[in-house]
Amino acid sequence: MRSLPRLPLDRPLSGARYSAVELSDAGDAVYLLDQRRLPGEVVYLEARSAAEVARAIRDMVVRGAPAIGVAAAYGVALARREGGLDAALDELASARPTAVNLRWAVARVGAVARRGSLEETREEARALHREDVAACRAMGALGAELLPPRARVLTHCNAGALATGGYGTALGVVRAAWASGRLSHVLADETRPYLQGARLTAWELHEDGVPVELLTDGMAGHFFARGEIDAVIVGADRIAASGDVANKIGTYGLAVLARAHEVPFYVAAPWSTVDLATARGAEIVIEERASDEVTVISGVRVAPEGVRARHPGFDVTPARLVTALVTERGVVRAPDAASLSALALTGARPT
Ligand code: MRU
Repeated sequence: MRSLPRLPLDRPLSGARYSAVELSDAGDAVYLLDQRRLPGEVVYLEARSAAEVARAIRDMVVRGAPAIGVAAAYGVALARREGGLDAALDELASARPTAVNLRWAVARVGAVARRGSLEETREEARALHREDVAACRAMGALGAELLPPRARVLTHCNAGALATGGYGTALGVVRAAWASGRLSHVLADETRPYLQGARLTAWELHEDGVPVELLTDGMAGHFFARGEIDAVIVGADRIAASGDVANKIGTYGLAVLARAHEVPFYVAAPWSTVDLATARGAEIVIEERASDEVTVISGVRVAPEGVRARHPGFDVTPARLVTALVTERGVVRAPDAASLSALALTGARPT
């Protein structure tokens, strides 16, 4: 894939200074900010086929549940031009297993690709992207109201502009709280082993002038015990019908700590992350990643040769530990099967 030093677009749909994913004006290429190279380098890769988009999702050039959904949506638009649509849709939908947004986006844009024109397919993918940004902004406004004044917020992984079509879910709440003067600062877990917190969350908040300090993952308990955390806000890769939440490995431990210290634990996610076809968290497929992402850091082996590491990419936080779920449709306190199916039926949008 060709590398580009900047996004060759005048009006990116993300509305941000940097975009995780965009479609070219001609609709024949997908631009992806190479998140593996942040924070050291800001480089965009140009994917010109659905197979290249699928590879970029597998290799985590682009990551974060809503962002891989948007990337796959644009990948479908490329596939519509190439032919071999069914195989391309399968490859895109199976590029990563846990985030349900990926399959949801491929199904939605794939349905248009099957019956409609190339331009209609592109327009559906762009609409999905715009809706994701709008959902993030709506979640930001709703979530910020949950925070106390001068809030000190802990987050995990990266659920920001880089992980979405733009603005972010958990970091959308942070951005809205900062803009309205409600936020003191963010504590960002580094998020071992892939370091999304250290490399991505710290980068995007620092770029936008939002005060952020980095913690190693094992430090959170110490800061809870000292009363230095007012709220935890994380994103999600999939939310089961029961309200159980799959998110980056380490999230469950934070939810337990938050409950032990009577600190609210909020999950911000667009409705596209809710998977009513999955009854409960135990049914969610958890991605298993390579052992050497744990045993090797920046090319240096930190564990003895011959020792393997476990590396589940995600864990499941039971609904009973979630204080509230923030979606663009509204805030669900103590989410459970009844409240989620009610929201599914009404499809209510925030007033
Ligand atoms: O493995 P990643 O980096 O794709 O994992 C991302 C997360 O776990 C995010 O918290 C989640 O996708 C929500 S992003 C708005």
